[in-house]
Amino acid sequence: MERKKILLGVTGGIAAYKAAELVRLFVKDGFDTSVIMTAAATNLVAPLTFESLSGNPVHVDLFKQGAGKIRHIELARRPSMIVIAPATANTLGKIASGIADNLLTTVVLAASVPVLLVPSMNVDMYNHPRVQDNLGRLKDCGYLIMEPDEGELACGVEGRGRMPEPEKIARFVLDILKIKKDYVSKKVLVTAGPTREPLDPARYLGNYSTGKMGFALARAFRERGAEVCLVHGDTAILPPAGVEAIRVNTAMEMLGEVEKRFDRTDIVVKAAAVADYRPAECQDRKIKKGDRITLELVPNPDILAMLGARKEKQVLVGFAAETEKLIKHAMQKLRAKNLDMIVANDLTIEGAGFATDTNKVTVITHDGKIREIPLMSKYEVAHRLLDIIAETWL
Ligand code: CTP
Repeated sequence: MERKKILLGVTGGIAAYKAAELVRLFVKDGFDTSVIMTAAATNLVAPLTFESLSGNPVHVDLFKQGAGKIRHIELARRPSMIVIAPATANTLGKIASGIADNLLTTVVLAASVPVLLVPSMNVDMYNHPRVQDNLGRLKDCGYLIMEPDEGELACGVEGRGRMPEPEKIARFVLDILKIKKDYVSKKVLVTAGPTREPLDPARYLGNYSTGKMGFALARAFRERGAEVCLVHGDTAILPPAGVEAIRVNTAMEMLGEVEKRFDRTDIVVKAAAVADYRPAECQDRKIKKGDRITLELVPNPDILAMLGARKEKQVLVGFAAETEKLIKHAMQKLRAKNLDMIVANDLTIEGAGFATDTNKVTVITHDGKIREIPLMSKYEVAHRLLDIIAETWL
């Protein structure tokens, strides 16, 4: 069997010396390891160190010739995973902004494999709102981030910012790469985010959904080999790489896009928060303020129920957002909409439901089996849901 490949990016933080041990551990774990260094990192550790430990040439220069191939594209395609350790505030900021001004940041932009960032810096830099904001944006884009440890830092102060020990990083990587490829050749449709129902040229009716759960699902399906189409409403986060993303506004537009693709889809997961009602008419002029007004709302079609009525071979998965009688209401939706599985969200639990990075869900399958998934990141929840779908239907 071909050895799994790993690409390690080393940037110019003092902890660069620890990256040498990380390379040794990757090689010991059986990975074919390549290293990209930023120019700054070469001031701290000689490329020859990484070359000797990995047995592969070390890459630094974006414009160096390489056997007629486009170097950054080739490097981005080869590995199962990219790890950047240490990741400086500078490199994190560049990646968060899509800047590609050296070989490493260019490769990251071209990559569709999981990327693990291991920040390491002085505690004040780490706590700086700009750095924290960048880390938040990177998480939203699907980058994996390992939080730095607390302890004595190279600058002599104590605090959070230390790069975790190489053993810890290597273990984390092994856990992530257990990712299976059980959805190869499956066509998957995921809906995500809120719909917007226009009221007048300046306003719409919406909801608090951010699309994080649906985007995490799309990413997990993609990582496990599926061909993924993501139909999503307005979100602040970016769709995962390698996924066909279609942006819609209203429930009616979402219905149109989903219906077009339904017949050639194997699995549909409807994580979108679809508005149940829309204004009876959208005014062509802005509604002026004045006395109390009454809005007339008309029901939107229930997209999921329509798919349930039409489905043949498809596995159909819905979500249920509830504030009371979670199991009873979710079970009713499962039956009424002819679903194979429903993922029930209790919106009253802290850390679950809309606009959080975590979720805690109860999964009910068509055979009445109930599974609880404890509080974890939406990305991890997504993989658990894929495990259940795979063991039940694939
Ligand atoms: N859904 C849909 N079309 C709608 C409303 C909901 O496809 N017009 C889907 C959602 O994407 C979700 C599931 O139906 O997968 C359940 O949505 P939810 O809001 O929990 O329930 P509703 O069916 O709308 O019922 P209620 O709001 O009364 O709880």
